[in-house]
Amino acid sequence: MPRRLSPLDRLLSEADSVLRTLSRRGNNAARPSPADGHRDAALSEGERRHAAGLMRVNHTGEVCAQALYQGQALTAKLAGVRDDMRHAAAEEVDHLVWCEERLRELGSRTSVLNPAWYGLSFALGAVAGAVGDRVSLGFVAATEEQVCAHLREHLRELPPEDRKSRLIVQAMLEDEQRHGDNALRAGGTDFPRPLKDLMTGLSKLMTRASYRV
Ligand SMILES: [Fe+2]
Ligand SMILES: [Fe+2]
Repeated sequence: MPRRLSPLDRLLSEADSVLRTLSRRGNNAARPSPADGHRDAALSEGERRHAAGLMRVNHTGEVCAQALYQGQALTAKLAGVRDDMRHAAAEEVDHLVWCEERLRELGSRTSVLNPAWYGLSFALGAVAGAVGDRVSLGFVAATEEQVCAHLREHLRELPPEDRKSRLIVQAMLEDEQRHGDNALRAGGTDFPRPLKDLMTGLSKLMTRASYRV
């Protein structure tokens, strides 16, 4: 039986997660990057900047995913699906690391706005978790739906020669689809359209900002 954590233990472990997510090279991926072993294409300056902007958006999305799972873990009961959620959260760490590595290779950096998006996503995750597991899982499903839409758009937008970024995005898309399906199958509420539209608006704001800074 797992050891019960004292409130101080939990606080320290939360603080550790926040710092890891927001600090550079704070995490290790469990799976090698899908881009490993592939050669970098010769990109024009414009292509490189565009690819970096898109990968920075994806990286911010993964920061939000970490915050969402951590916020949820604080409040949700997630009866019967805790292991699934932990597994999904670990895959999100891989995505975070892959995007960060790719940004570095493209000569760029992560978004300066990440701490703000982290805070907002953490709060949303915690609120959804407090309302109940069905809402919490529904929130995961709706979020993944948004993320998948972005990733598909990025596959259309990334320079065709930028095979490394494309391989990362493709692998992420497959994982995110599975996370969303699992959350719905585990009993997540399918959010009503107006709520999804609100989330789309928020994610547009995030993507526009992170693309630039
Ligand atoms: Fe992810
Ligand atoms: Fe995911």
